[in-house]
Amino acid sequence: MAVADSAGKVPNLKFSHMGLSVKDVARMEEFYTAVLGFTVTDRGEAGGMALVFLSRDPADHHQIVLASGRPDELPGNTANPQFGPSINQISFQMGSLADLRDMGAKLQEFGTSNFFPANHGIAWSIYTHDPEGNNLEFFVDTEWYFPQPFLVPLDFSQSDDDIYALTEALSKSQDGYEPYPSWRQRIAARMTPYSPPAGQVASC
Ligand SMILES: [Fe+2]
Repeated sequence: MAVADSAGKVPNLKFSHMGLSVKDVARMEEFYTAVLGFTVTDRGEAGGMALVFLSRDPADHHQIVLASGRPDELPGNTANPQFGPSINQISFQMGSLADLRDMGAKLQEFGTSNFFPANHGIAWSIYTHDPEGNNLEFFVDTEWYFPQPFLVPLDFSQSDDDIYALTEALSKSQDGYEPYPSWRQRIAARMTPYSPPAGQVASC
């Protein structure tokens, strides 16, 4: 039984932020501010933890919280070491392929490990690890949808125009291809929108 059915509607929520347990708060703060451009909105101590609140959007007090307390040794992912043992990936949407290329250069300048550019057809991505091994993804949606998962390496030695053209051809040759906007319209019909009580407006 779907949760939406039991109450007749879905809860009034949207995904907002996440917290990372970290070993070296200062080192992680440096990476997320200097390389990813986050602003420290607050910091302090609570529950025995040092906390740093980070945001890139004034609408959100924090998008990421860094909290001390991560154990020295965590087991790795048993299927694929690129991905985290608990949090598989933390993903940041970028504005354009050129932005993604710039981000890649910045990450390589910092010297992140496990740097892996990938072409999903529906998105161009760079996966890499933050200083404590959390798997980050930076991505740009393309204009083309086909069923996922799909991944081939993304070759940044090619020009943006060449990457665009080859990805368009690749995507349009796949079974189940459709323009991304039409997929979004189709999937929206399967998502139950929140409906506020009579006389109230949705706040999320
Ligand atoms: Fe992803």
